[in-house]
Amino acid sequence: MPVINRIAEYTPEMTGWRRELHENPELGFQEARTSAFVAAKLASWGIEVHRGIAGTGLVGVLRGQGDSRRSIGLRADMDALPMEEANSFAHASKVPGRMHACGHDGHTATLLGAAKYLAETRNFSGTVNFIFQPAEEGGGGGRVMVEEGLFERFPCDAVYGIHNAPDLPLGTASVVDGTIMAASDRIYITIQGYGGHAAKPHLAIDPVMVGAQVMVALQAIVARRTDPLDSAVISICQFHAGSANNVIPDVAELSGTVRTLQPGTRDLMEKLIAQVTEATAAAHGASALVRYERLYPPCTNHTEQTDKAARAAARVLGETGVKRDLPPLMGGEDFSFMLLERPGCFVFMGQAGAERGAVPVHHPEYDFNDDMLPVGASYFATLVEQELPR
Ligand code: NI
Repeated sequence: MPVINRIAEYTPEMTGWRRELHENPELGFQEARTSAFVAAKLASWGIEVHRGIAGTGLVGVLRGQGDSRRSIGLRADMDALPMEEANSFAHASKVPGRMHACGHDGHTATLLGAAKYLAETRNFSGTVNFIFQPAEEGGGGGRVMVEEGLFERFPCDAVYGIHNAPDLPLGTASVVDGTIMAASDRIYITIQGYGGHAAKPHLAIDPVMVGAQVMVALQAIVARRTDPLDSAVISICQFHAGSANNVIPDVAELSGTVRTLQPGTRDLMEKLIAQVTEATAAAHGASALVRYERLYPPCTNHTEQTDKAARAAARVLGETGVKRDLPPLMGGEDFSFMLLERPGCFVFMGQAGAERGAVPVHHPEYDFNDDMLPVGASYFATLVEQELPR
């Protein structure tokens, strides 16, 4: 794989950063240590550092040679997950209940590697903005950075990001035009029944039974009310009710997630979930309160920038390593907020090697494959030299 030679030489150092971050995971908007680590590295290479954007977010600004006004944004996420790591290797999480199980430690180290190389070589003309965002895992750190004026303060003609992919082999990348990830929304349902004695159900209104009916009825929206060729997911992941074996509770609480690829389908989901839930509850004499929270819009790549990303990826991985036609994922990604503001492309980089890298993200035995670090950094660096030529 023709990674940039100079970047290949950084691999041991990048691996050190990555493992240091892995050992010290921090949750969204709490990435104080990570943010300070990144800021210190950027500053040590002479990159201008701007901190405190969306709290722990930061941007490093590097100007190339010449006086071009062109600019590019490269983005990494920094947050970890609230889960216990099951790995026992030396760089496993030192923080109970916190784990870098999505590889954001690797994304951060990858972008740092590219920053170090570009600061050293400055073989480009224009400005590179290295965007390190907090809180990708549900907190919407990308949205907050945009709301706090990210692109007004740090103009970017285009913006690019990567995510590691354990289901793709190391040395390949998925670079796909259009919508590549789903809109990710949350639903909260409260079923109000009428509590009572378990042996006298006719004097109560059982919200557990109604909640169960609602759960099943909601699946019929996906099965019967949406186009089978237009993907949608409703997953009810929490169902809380009751406190005893012989008490029909007063209330049941359900919550879950909704994923859609098309804006129209997203609107339809919001409408139908409320309609079906309320009608199902009413059919059994209960009432229901539905709250639909729009979290992340779909992650939609732009055609021109996707072609540019594919060209840069092919320089590193070869034409055969670049997959242009993989189907979208129903996962969410808050880089989508940046793609709503500026054209750009989000790329999945394969990280499954001979021995490691294939454990899925969010699994307690996941680990970022350090062999991907020079690949990802070479991709970012190549993209900059290609898009901001001297
Ligand atoms: Ni992730």
